[in-house]
Amino acid sequence: MASTELKPAVRVVRRSIHSHITGLGLDAQGRAKKIGGGLVGQEEAREAAGVIVQLIKEGKLGGRGILIVGPPGTGKTAIAIAIAKELGEDTPFVALSGSEIVGSPRKTEVLLQALRKAMGVKVREERAVIEGVVTEIKYVKRQSPFYPYPTIGGARITLETRDESASYTVGPEIAEQLLALNVRKGDVIMIDVETGAVRKLGKASGRGEKRYDIEVEREVEIPSGSVKKRKEFVRILTLYDIDVSIAARRVAFSGLLALFETEREIGDEDRRHANEIVKKMIDEGKAELVPGVMFIDDAHMLDLECYSFLTRAMESDFAPIIVMATNRGITKIRGTDVESPHGMPRDLLDRLLIITTRPYTAEEIREIIRIRADEEDVPLSERALEALTKIGLERSLRYAVQLLEPARIIALRRKSAKVEDVDVYEAARLFADLKRSVETIEKFKELMMY
Ligand SMILES: Nc1ncnc2c1ncn2[C@@H]1O[C@H](COP(=O)(O)OP(=O)(O)OP(=O)(O)O)[C@@H](O)[C@H]1O
Ligand SMILES: [Mg+2]
Repeated sequence: MASTELKPAVRVVRRSIHSHITGLGLDAQGRAKKIGGGLVGQEEAREAAGVIVQLIKEGKLGGRGILIVGPPGTGKTAIAIAIAKELGEDTPFVALSGSEIVGSPRKTEVLLQALRKAMGVKVREERAVIEGVVTEIKYVKRQSPFYPYPTIGGARITLETRDESASYTVGPEIAEQLLALNVRKGDVIMIDVETGAVRKLGKASGRGEKRYDIEVEREVEIPSGSVKKRKEFVRILTLYDIDVSIAARRVAFSGLLALFETEREIGDEDRRHANEIVKKMIDEGKAELVPGVMFIDDAHMLDLECYSFLTRAMESDFAPIIVMATNRGITKIRGTDVESPHGMPRDLLDRLLIITTRPYTAEEIREIIRIRADEEDVPLSERALEALTKIGLERSLRYAVQLLEPARIIALRRKSAKVEDVDVYEAARLFADLKRSVETIEKFKELMMY
């Protein structure tokens, strides 16, 4: 008898090492719960981060920065990510690492772009729209003398609100959008009267036939009032978005030669122009600034040029909140022979609020590993958890977390779905932590290449 082998679908879900973090895990008074938001322990740092989040939300952190300091693997990056989660999607958050900045041939350009991506501009705009549920839609075909097939010449569409119904004849630009969006009876749509941009808002709840067994379309309420109305829109752009559109327009106007430019470079002039537009909009009450966060991980990798640039940037009107993390103590400022705390110049340090993280206790390490194992779908026996906790305490938390996946594979090879302590020790035997890899080099010194 023929049989078909059913292979399990390949797991393509990629989880970052911080995917278990959903927030700072604070209560209404801003106190850290022992375990919350995917975070364990590190209470003081989490509570301090909670205060920072509140200050950012109130827009009271301009011209300042935050520095998160602590030994490796104590959750500095994790806390920065939790800050981003707490701020929500409307607050821009840009993350980059010191090494990717100094690795670029144009360090200050990278920094400047990131700073502008981290500055939000909330734009309020009133626009004339027609909005309602589609009760009738008919396309008009047009035969072109140059083209063998009929094309869309326009459409006749009837929209209804709870209070009225109105019909419109629309041209080909709008008709083509309706077609592309697959707009049908029962859909709630909105058309911008000036630009003709069409948006499908969803399917009117309780209207129209059920189309599929599994509906992926959002159900929305049928709008009330008149079909044609003025509506306020609020959008969050970033300064970078505005820079890009200004540069693009400049390139479009600069003629044919621009077609050969490979990249649309944003120039100083474009940025100045963008700032002017934004300032004007703020003065007119049409926009407000939403300072976001620029996070620089492993900030000790930066050099003097970058630090000076950042210090200056913090003074500008349009500065986001700069959050940095480092695990270095007293060390040389890159690009100089000067030693300084965290390898940073004094004038920058003076502007930073510092949060510290401390090493974890065995109990905390056990909880973090438990959460990570759960996140990675690695079933651990109690003894395996103890083995990993011991490794986390003696070597590093990062190393213990990294052993989870290899241990799962090793357990599977002996046909066990559950990871036991033997699997953990086998994984630790196969993969070295940093201390052991350095010892290896020392031991075989004369054989290594230098
Ligand atoms: N308090 C915590 N609760 C839950 N998970 C944590 C906590 N602290 C760290 N982790 C997790 O442990 C791992 C290491 O932490 P993280 O990368 O944040 O350390 P770090 O302080 O940034 O280290 P480094 O100095 O090496 O950059 C990550 O997977 C992180 O998500
Ligand atoms: Mg880190």
